Amino acid sequence: MAIENFTAYNPTKLHFGKGVAENIGKSAKKYGSKVLLVYGKGSVKKYGYYDVVVNSLRQEGLEIFEYSGIKPNPVVEDVEKAAQLGKEKNIEVIVALGGGSVIDSAKIMGLAIANNEHPWNFMTWQANPVRSVPLLCVLTLAATGTEMNGAAVLQNHTTGQKLGYVNPLNYPKESFLDPSYTVTVPKDYTAYGIVDLIAHALEAWFGKGEPPVIDRITASIISDAMEHAHQLLSEPENYDLRAGIMLDATLALNGLTSYGKKSGDWGVHAIGHELSLLYDTPHGATLSIAYPAWLKLQKERIPKRIGKLGSLLFGTNDPDSTISNLEEFFKKIHAPVSLEQAGIPVSERETVIAQLTKNRVSGMHHLLTPGDYPVITDFMIHA
Ligand code: NZQ
Ligand code: ZN
Repeated sequence: MAIENFTAYNPTKLHFGKGVAENIGKSAKKYGSKVLLVYGKGSVKKYGYYDVVVNSLRQEGLEIFEYSGIKPNPVVEDVEKAAQLGKEKNIEVIVALGGGSVIDSAKIMGLAIANNEHPWNFMTWQANPVRSVPLLCVLTLAATGTEMNGAAVLQNHTTGQKLGYVNPLNYPKESFLDPSYTVTVPKDYTAYGIVDLIAHALEAWFGKGEPPVIDRITASIISDAMEHAHQLLSEPENYDLRAGIMLDATLALNGLTSYGKKSGDWGVHAIGHELSLLYDTPHGATLSIAYPAWLKLQKERIPKRIGKLGSLLFGTNDPDSTISNLEEFFKKIHAPVSLEQAGIPVSERETVIAQLTKNRVSGMHHLLTPGDYPVITDFMIHA
């Protein structure tokens, strides 16, 4: 079936544009007077976004408690500590200020506080949450789509897992996206963000179901991002280009690209998560390595689907040139396309294969088998 049965749901109110975060206090006040403000390792203070948010919250007379220090590829320990603080202070609303790592952590904090459970129990589906703490987000990095979706991803080094968890309770109540906040994102993370949003569109593309209009929309998001990316590299402070990428990133994972589909694939993300877990590689950098490798593995299995993508993106329906065009794009924006380029030596081959095997990494539509792991690892080595 080209168009599969589906249900669409997205309750997040999105505010987009210059200055939108200045009004967050008014929105927060609707949910209570005690705020848990969550952020990362300091960029938001350095560049002044913290002051805007705190001033707005204070103007409404709200009481602010803070948890900072969330790291990229966030860990469950931080979420647990923040949830303890939130419970002690009886917080009523969470404000997450940062990129995907901060927002994802805040989503699971909300569940842990409201259901009085250990955060990891949600990630492993051992606990079934029935409520959450209202969440408002100020996004500072365009990439993950977490600002308008129900997903969160956390690492646990004790169990050796990086897991994603999707629940309708995870949707932010409101998200504030000011593209001018993303002007300070360094070049490497700007590139990783672009890779990530493209990878989200691709995960949808390779899912089950091929609704023609959604195929066109999905390919348009990718083309738009590629076009903006080329210009953005030479003009990182250009507001319109930053706004274009920010909108692309939200559209790539807010549900739109899964209309008429039974599922996405997500096999490449599964591989990427294992690399982040092992080497703390930034999320987007794992995907610029793993996507071309996955496509090389799949090209004889699904040549038509890869070819259709190529015809919409690059004007070729040849799977090989589709893959090389994508790889070239990643190289042009200085995203790594081999393990070595991400600082992972070739000698790690066996470790990578063992990790993929241990966690039985697979997509949902194009299933991977243990025999695929060495092949895909070798493609990630010899890009
Ligand atoms: O910690 P600070 O100082 O804030 O610095 C951050 C961090 O070092 C910095 N940064 C963020 N905004 C900035 C900025 N620096 C300067 N100016 C700004 N405006 O950027 C670094 C990376 O931040 P991070 O939040 O880790 O990046 P990203 O937004 O790419 O999030 C990645 C995480 O999201 C998960 C990934 O697995 C990864 O853990 N994902 C979440 C998804 C979801 N919830 O739907 C889907 C994705 O596929 C992804 O898995
Ligand atoms: Zn991603």
